[in-house]
Amino acid sequence: MPEEFFAPIANTQTPPIYNFFNGSTWVEGQKSTPVISPIDQSVVGSLAIATTQEIDETIGKLKAAQPAWEATPLNQRVKLMHLVADWVHHYEEYFTAIMVREIGKSTKEAKSEIVRTAELTDYFADEVQSIRGYSVDSDSFPGYDKGSIAMIERVAHGVVLCIAPFNYPVNLAASKIVPALLMGNTVLFKPPTQGGISGLHLARIFEKAGLPPNIFAVATGGGSEIGDYLVSHKQVDAVAFTGSSDVGVVIAGKAAMKPLIFECGGNNSAIVFPDADMNLTAKEIVKGAFSYAGQRCTAIKYVMATKGVLDTLLPVVLAQMKELVNMGDPRSPETKLVGPVISLEAAQRIQKWIDESVAKGAKIVIGGKHDKAYIEPTILTNVTPDMPVVVNEVFGPVVSFIEIQSMDQAANIVNATRFGLQACVFTRDEGTGMVYAKSLNVGTVQINGSPQRGPDHFPFLGIKHSGVGVQGVRYSLEAMSRLKPVVINKPQ
Ligand code: G3H
Repeated sequence: MPEEFFAPIANTQTPPIYNFFNGSTWVEGQKSTPVISPIDQSVVGSLAIATTQEIDETIGKLKAAQPAWEATPLNQRVKLMHLVADWVHHYEEYFTAIMVREIGKSTKEAKSEIVRTAELTDYFADEVQSIRGYSVDSDSFPGYDKGSIAMIERVAHGVVLCIAPFNYPVNLAASKIVPALLMGNTVLFKPPTQGGISGLHLARIFEKAGLPPNIFAVATGGGSEIGDYLVSHKQVDAVAFTGSSDVGVVIAGKAAMKPLIFECGGNNSAIVFPDADMNLTAKEIVKGAFSYAGQRCTAIKYVMATKGVLDTLLPVVLAQMKELVNMGDPRSPETKLVGPVISLEAAQRIQKWIDESVAKGAKIVIGGKHDKAYIEPTILTNVTPDMPVVVNEVFGPVVSFIEIQSMDQAANIVNATRFGLQACVFTRDEGTGMVYAKSLNVGTVQINGSPQRGPDHFPFLGIKHSGVGVQGVRYSLEAMSRLKPVVINKPQ
């Protein structure tokens, strides 16, 4: 029974107060912070706020336990992660229902996040077995003979702080925790406040899979209460974070010289060539802009094309919206892609950016209003790159159409922003797309497809304020470890 399996993580109050896991025990907090459902503003539960003393004790134990964990045979760590994957699969329905209420993701999208998490965990556990050390001889460098050989192995960072965002509270937690543990690190998991309940359920699975004490722990509490303390903690050796660029910049400053693995904001554009397949392009734009109400770092935020192309494309996009989008309660099977955004504050912020852009000359083609946390799926035309809906990462179901005079101008607009996650290019000529991709200063360019992280073994990275380091199965395993050469010198 799921209720029994997950019982230790909360008290029996309605709504419950959730405990945090200090590495060996689920602990009640002295204070707590509420988690409000974006669906109807009901309180889903409250999360304990860990004190700095509790955090110190937890991190101290993680630090002390780390060498023994790294020395544990890899095959045992692999077995544990496969067990985690099995439990996640097993509780798929239960997780889905929690996540839908907690963050307002549609049932279909929440379920797909859970399945993806189990599959990702299995893939990590398989892939890690092909990560090996290697050796390098000295004599290929001018002036050296065969006198030295470097034996290079991968070692853990130590204690890794894994900070997950609200939009994928389970998947973007596991995508950090699993590679960190497999590479021999101990982990302190900081879930988001909204999404924290889903994250704590995942934490219980790590515990139940049989991790030894003090290998994995959780610190709950708002970013403003415990965030700074965690990222600058002396015994935290590396920080893996997904969240906004603004928060990323602050964390990078506070974390000082710690290794960072960051996935931050994106403001991804779709650039449409005149020869593009308009049906395919429109479908990808709609999916890319409105999935999970546009609350994905990989969402399409603006579409750029010359006037004639925009005039042809817009009616096709509107027709596809009718097919693919239906805003509503995320629990309803009628709802397609767009439920509420994460909070009333987020909805008000997005509305403000829409209104300010309209005041500067943008035109609303469809949508443009909000009711509580529900923002109508919105298309704006007549948008220019200096408007708030383009300058900011909107993180809502809003897509802006920008008219350009040339394809070079579109590349210049992309390259001038502070973001550099992905861009997508639509053309029937893949060669043209390949050449054009070189002019776009972003992490990844998609040709004839909307931006996305997956498949999860592809490299995933952002440049500029969109991220630090590379993720994706093998890349995340590498990022959660470092090279350590031991050089044997036998001067000849
Ligand atoms: O929000 C950031 C996520 O990494 C996006 O992942 O492209 O699979 O939705 P996704």
